[in-house]
Amino acid sequence: MCCVCKLIGKVAIVTGGARGIGGATATLLSENGAHVIIADILDEVGVNLAKSIRGLYVHCDVSKESDVESAVQLALSWKGKLDIIFSNAGIIGTKTLNFYRLRIASEKQNLGIYYLFVRI
Ligand SMILES: NC(=O)c1ccc[n+]([C@@H]2O[C@H](COP(=O)([O-])OP(=O)(O)OC[C@H]3O[C@@H](n4cnc5c(N)ncnc54)[C@H](O)[C@@H]3O)[C@@H](O)[C@H]2O)c1
Repeated sequence: MCCVCKLIGKVAIVTGGARGIGGATATLLSENGAHVIIADILDEVGVNLAKSIRGLYVHCDVSKESDVESAVQLALSWKGKLDIIFSNAGIIGTKTLNFYRLRIASEKQNLGIYYLFVRI
Protein backbone atom coordinates (compact mmCIF):
# COMPACT_ATOMS: atom_id res chain seq x y z
CA MET A 1 0.00 0.00 0.00
CA CYS A 2 1.38 3.42 -0.91
CA CYS A 3 1.96 5.99 1.84
CA VAL A 4 -1.02 8.23 1.06
CA CYS A 5 -3.36 5.24 0.62
CA LYS A 6 -2.74 4.51 4.29
CA LEU A 7 -4.73 7.66 5.09
CA ILE A 8 -7.97 6.40 3.59
CA GLY A 9 -10.62 6.19 6.31
CA LYS A 10 -8.32 7.46 9.04
CA VAL A 11 -9.71 9.97 11.52
CA ALA A 12 -7.48 12.94 12.25
CA ILE A 13 -7.54 15.96 14.55
CA VAL A 14 -5.51 18.95 13.40
CA THR A 15 -5.05 21.58 16.08
CA GLY A 16 -4.62 25.08 14.71
CA GLY A 17 -6.16 23.64 11.57
CA ALA A 18 -8.19 26.67 10.51
CA ARG A 19 -5.40 28.26 8.52
CA GLY A 20 -1.70 28.25 7.75
CA ILE A 21 0.29 25.03 8.08
CA GLY A 22 -2.57 23.37 9.97
CA GLY A 23 -5.11 24.35 7.33
CA ALA A 24 -2.90 23.05 4.55
CA THR A 25 -2.34 19.81 6.45
CA ALA A 26 -6.06 19.36 7.12
CA THR A 27 -6.77 19.84 3.41
CA LEU A 28 -4.04 17.42 2.38
CA LEU A 29 -5.21 14.77 4.84
CA SER A 30 -8.76 15.10 3.52
CA GLU A 31 -7.65 14.99 -0.13
CA ASN A 32 -5.97 11.70 0.67
CA GLY A 33 -9.02 10.11 2.22
CA ALA A 34 -8.86 11.00 5.91
CA HIS A 35 -11.80 12.31 7.97
CA VAL A 36 -10.56 15.52 9.52
CA ILE A 37 -11.55 17.47 12.61
CA ILE A 38 -10.24 21.01 12.67
CA ALA A 39 -9.63 22.07 16.26
CA ASP A 40 -9.00 25.78 16.52
CA ILE A 41 -10.10 29.02 18.14
CA LEU A 42 -10.67 30.83 14.84
CA ASP A 43 -14.29 29.72 14.56
CA GLU A 44 -15.57 31.26 11.32
CA VAL A 45 -12.48 30.40 9.29
CA GLY A 46 -12.36 26.92 10.81
CA VAL A 47 -16.02 26.17 10.11
CA ASN A 48 -15.65 27.25 6.48
CA LEU A 49 -12.56 25.15 5.90
CA ALA A 50 -14.14 22.16 7.64
CA LYS A 51 -17.18 22.43 5.37
CA SER A 52 -14.99 22.64 2.27
CA ILE A 53 -13.16 19.42 3.16
CA ARG A 54 -16.28 17.63 4.46
CA GLY A 55 -14.82 17.51 7.93
CA LEU A 56 -15.88 18.87 11.30
CA TYR A 57 -14.87 21.94 13.23
CA VAL A 58 -14.57 22.12 16.99
CA HIS A 59 -13.73 25.19 19.05
CA CYS A 60 -10.68 23.99 20.92
CA ASP A 61 -8.20 26.12 22.76
CA VAL A 62 -5.30 23.72 23.20
CA SER A 63 -4.34 25.42 26.44
CA LYS A 64 -7.60 24.12 27.97
CA GLU A 65 -7.61 20.47 28.90
CA SER A 66 -11.41 20.25 28.71
CA ASP A 67 -11.40 21.62 25.14
CA VAL A 68 -8.82 19.05 24.10
CA GLU A 69 -10.86 16.25 25.68
CA SER A 70 -13.95 17.48 23.83
CA ALA A 71 -12.09 17.32 20.51
CA VAL A 72 -11.06 13.73 21.19
CA GLN A 73 -14.63 12.86 22.21
CA LEU A 74 -15.95 14.43 19.01
CA ALA A 75 -13.76 12.13 16.93
CA LEU A 76 -15.01 9.11 18.86
CA SER A 77 -18.67 10.06 18.55
CA TRP A 78 -18.28 10.96 14.85
CA LYS A 79 -16.35 7.97 13.55
CA GLY A 80 -15.83 5.75 16.59
CA LYS A 81 -12.07 6.12 16.51
CA LEU A 82 -9.15 8.49 16.33
CA ASP A 83 -6.03 7.61 14.38
CA ILE A 84 -4.00 10.76 13.90
CA ILE A 85 -3.35 13.89 15.94
CA PHE A 86 -1.40 16.73 14.36
CA SER A 87 -0.40 18.92 17.29
CA ASN A 88 0.21 22.05 15.26
CA ALA A 89 -1.41 24.90 17.22
CA GLY A 90 0.70 26.77 19.58
CA ILE A 91 2.58 29.70 20.72
CA ILE A 92 6.34 29.45 20.69
CA GLY A 93 7.49 27.79 23.91
CA THR A 94 4.22 25.95 24.63
CA LYS A 95 4.45 23.17 22.04
CA THR A 96 5.52 20.42 24.40
CA LEU A 97 2.71 21.24 26.84
CA ASN A 98 0.09 21.28 24.09
CA PHE A 99 1.34 18.00 22.72
CA TYR A 100 1.20 16.27 26.10
CA ARG A 101 -2.34 17.56 26.74
CA LEU A 102 -3.46 15.94 23.50
CA ARG A 103 -1.57 12.80 24.28
CA ILE A 104 -3.08 12.49 27.76
CA ALA A 105 -6.62 13.14 26.48
CA SER A 106 -6.29 10.51 23.79
CA GLU A 107 -4.49 7.91 25.91
CA LYS A 108 -7.35 7.98 28.40
CA GLN A 109 -9.32 6.34 25.59
CA ASN A 110 -6.69 3.64 24.95
CA LEU A 111 -6.41 4.53 21.29
CA GLY A 112 -3.54 3.55 19.04
CA ILE A 113 -2.62 6.88 17.50
CA TYR A 114 -0.02 8.33 15.18
CA TYR A 115 1.21 11.60 16.67
CA LEU A 116 2.61 14.37 14.52
CA PHE A 117 4.33 16.95 16.62
CA VAL A 118 5.76 20.21 15.33
CA ARG A 119 8.63 21.16 17.58
CA ILE A 120 9.98 24.69 17.60
N1 LIG B 1 5.18 29.60 9.74
C1 LIG B 1 6.41 29.39 10.19
O1 LIG B 1 7.41 29.82 9.61
C2 LIG B 1 6.64 28.59 11.45
C3 LIG B 1 7.93 28.33 11.85
C4 LIG B 1 8.15 27.57 13.00
C5 LIG B 1 7.08 27.10 13.71
N2 LIG B 1 5.83 27.38 13.33
C6 LIG B 1 4.74 26.84 14.13
O2 LIG B 1 3.89 26.07 13.31
C7 LIG B 1 2.55 26.23 13.75
C8 LIG B 1 1.67 26.73 12.61
O3 LIG B 1 2.22 27.94 12.10
P1 LIG B 1 1.44 28.81 11.05
O4 LIG B 1 2.47 29.68 10.39
O5 LIG B 1 0.58 27.95 10.21
O6 LIG B 1 0.57 29.73 12.04
P2 LIG B 1 -0.81 30.50 11.76
O7 LIG B 1 -0.79 31.65 12.72
O8 LIG B 1 -1.04 30.77 10.32
O9 LIG B 1 -1.90 29.43 12.22
C9 LIG B 1 -1.95 29.02 13.56
C10 LIG B 1 -3.34 28.47 13.83
O10 LIG B 1 -3.35 28.05 15.21
C11 LIG B 1 -4.51 28.56 15.79
N3 LIG B 1 -4.30 28.70 17.24
C12 LIG B 1 -3.55 29.64 17.89
N4 LIG B 1 -3.62 29.46 19.21
C13 LIG B 1 -4.44 28.39 19.40
C14 LIG B 1 -4.92 27.72 20.55
N5 LIG B 1 -4.57 28.13 21.79
N6 LIG B 1 -5.72 26.65 20.41
C15 LIG B 1 -6.08 26.24 19.16
N7 LIG B 1 -5.67 26.84 18.03
C16 LIG B 1 -4.86 27.91 18.16
C17 LIG B 1 -4.78 29.89 15.11
O11 LIG B 1 -6.13 30.31 15.26
C18 LIG B 1 -4.43 29.53 13.67
O12 LIG B 1 -5.53 29.00 12.98
C19 LIG B 1 2.56 27.23 14.90
O13 LIG B 1 2.53 26.50 16.12
C20 LIG B 1 3.86 27.94 14.73
O14 LIG B 1 4.36 28.40 15.99
C21 LIG B 1 5.58 28.11 12.21
